Amino acid sequence: MLQNRLLLDALAGKNKGRAPVWLMRQAGRYLPEFRALRKKHSFLTVCRTPQLAAEATLMPLPILGVDAAILFSDILVILDPLKRGLEYLEGRGPVFEKPWNPKEGALPHYCVQEELSYVGDAVRLLKKELTVPLIGFAGAPFTVASYLIEGGSSDSLMKTKRWMLEDPQGFHAFLQSLTDLTIDYLKLQVAAGADALQLFDSWANFLSWQDFQDFSLKYMQQIVEALRSTGIPLILFCRGSSVFVEALASLKPAAVSLDWNGHLPTLHKKLPKGVGIQGNLDPDILYAPKERLERSVRTLLQEMQGAENYIFNLGHGLKPDMSPDQVKFLVDIVKTK
Ligand code: CP3
Repeated sequence: MLQNRLLLDALAGKNKGRAPVWLMRQAGRYLPEFRALRKKHSFLTVCRTPQLAAEATLMPLPILGVDAAILFSDILVILDPLKRGLEYLEGRGPVFEKPWNPKEGALPHYCVQEELSYVGDAVRLLKKELTVPLIGFAGAPFTVASYLIEGGSSDSLMKTKRWMLEDPQGFHAFLQSLTDLTIDYLKLQVAAGADALQLFDSWANFLSWQDFQDFSLKYMQQIVEALRSTGIPLILFCRGSSVFVEALASLKPAAVSLDWNGHLPTLHKKLPKGVGIQGNLDPDILYAPKERLERSVRTLLQEMQGAENYIFNLGHGLKPDMSPDQVKFLVDIVKTK
């Protein structure tokens, strides 16, 4: 049963209490408890096994005392049914043994409800236990596309951008097929009980202004529109958001989640009514001594004081070598302010 509604109140723009706090990658390798779980099971086994996914989702809650849970999974799990040899390698991250070739065109449509039923099962298990809201998520089509086309992480996105620039029509057809699957996937999470959703466009910062509108925003818009009738609030995150924030906000999501480059109070003022704001502490501040960490958190909270639609978060995810003690210290400051 939901007992803590701070996140949902902030997403509705009417939180009169303190700012809610949760952290991207709050369930992950910085926690010794998670590393112990991963000794026993591969990353994908945890994602594919509802009991284990639920265990990993719940893990940070008693340790950190955050105001929301985020489903333990990954933005690439949606591509699992394609059978392109997705694996997560130590030190390299996600890899596709058989990357997508532009000559293959659009993705085949598959029944997400059937193929990814384990995601819905994990959500249902979690909803029985949770007293804080559960955030479901998906990757934005451009970002997910880039992993499948590049065959993993890339520091240039060259294959993806070449397809986009050499054959825009073909690339659009591909993005459309991925968008359709993403809508089904988020609807599955909503049907299973997710209380809020976040869409991650982690590689949007590789796109020019115009290409962002054409190849990323256009598809995010379809997703926002398709989910609106569910009434479940959706948060849009992208890297490059200090530049793209107004474009993101023009889609009227429940909130935008901003990276750490921009001045949050200034960006907040640019948002249309009804769009909340999440972010945006530089995650690396967690490496600083406690005094510096505390000062940064307090400054941000002070600047955002009184904003009924503000959610405290980092500008990107926690890193594996961060100290759980520092992370807990950060959460405690937000909660005791
Ligand atoms: O705690 C949470 O935030 C929930 C779970 C979650 C994971 N990935 C778990 C994960 C979420 C929301 C994601 C999103 C995700 N995955 C994004 C968008 C956010 C972002 O970071 O920009 C992206 C781009 C990915 C793709 C991905 N998955 C990469 C590049 C990597 C390797 C780098 C890394 O951080 O390890 C992953 C692996 C991954 N996803 C791990 C976890 C806990 C580590 C895998 C392991 O345990 O070995």
